Amino acid sequence: MHAERRPFIGGNWKMNTDLASGVELADAVLAALAAAGVEESVDAAVYPPFPYLFTVGRTLGHSAVLLGAQDCSADVSGAFTGQVSAGMLCDVGCRSVIIGHSERRHGLGEDDELLHEKLAIALESGLVAVLCVGETLSERDDGRAEAVVAHQLRGCFGTLKAETVERVVVAYEPVWAIGTGRTASPEDAQAMHASIRRVLADLYDSRFAARTRIIYGGSVNAKNARAIFDGPDIDGGLIGGASLKADDFASICRAAAEAWSAAGGH
Ligand code: PGA
Repeated sequence: MHAERRPFIGGNWKMNTDLASGVELADAVLAALAAAGVEESVDAAVYPPFPYLFTVGRTLGHSAVLLGAQDCSADVSGAFTGQVSAGMLCDVGCRSVIIGHSERRHGLGEDDELLHEKLAIALESGLVAVLCVGETLSERDDGRAEAVVAHQLRGCFGTLKAETVERVVVAYEPVWAIGTGRTASPEDAQAMHASIRRVLADLYDSRFAARTRIIYGGSVNAKNARAIFDGPDIDGGLIGGASLKADDFASICRAAAEAWSAAGGH
């Protein structure tokens, strides 16, 4: 953590919960965050499945927890069967969206060109866009992890102007660490985050790089979170499995708040 950047913790529920348990989880998250006393020092967000967004949003009410979606279309409207536009997300109360999660990049073949369009439209719509990047295990073993991630960042940011990218949060999620129980070591994660910050400085400028939050995702849990968040370039996490348990999610938020406070944040 760094004193200048408030932590961001997102709970990516993926294709889990049903309507009733999603609402229960949102309620429990609110209660657990209040009990943990972290609302003042962490930006927390939850990303439920599309059909539950509106109802979960009502449960979140006017709380500080951001409602977010797991994806959006690259188009504004029209004949795109099955897709959901960024405008529709705003309409049902979303304030954030995940772009380019590896389960979409690798599972559904989304490439940087498409993700660039999605990122542009999400930002134009006023959403906080959590842009995911990350290498596969073979890319890491080949020593190409930093180059792959830099390439993804350049492709996704593309020609976006500095004024439009203010609301981006970058999520570094090594593909081999997602849902596997195997996290990057705090040292490897910190090294990659520092590398991502250098790419952002190169794409825009050092001030933009210094204020942009870069969060880590991949098997973060209540036990390992603090060691990861102590990295000076690690500004929070994107949490999958552990976000389905309100107490674990709140513990991870508390770990972020403590790491931030130790770094001189308030
Ligand atoms: P995980 O998922 O925490 O279950 O590894 C993280 C993610 O996919 O965002």
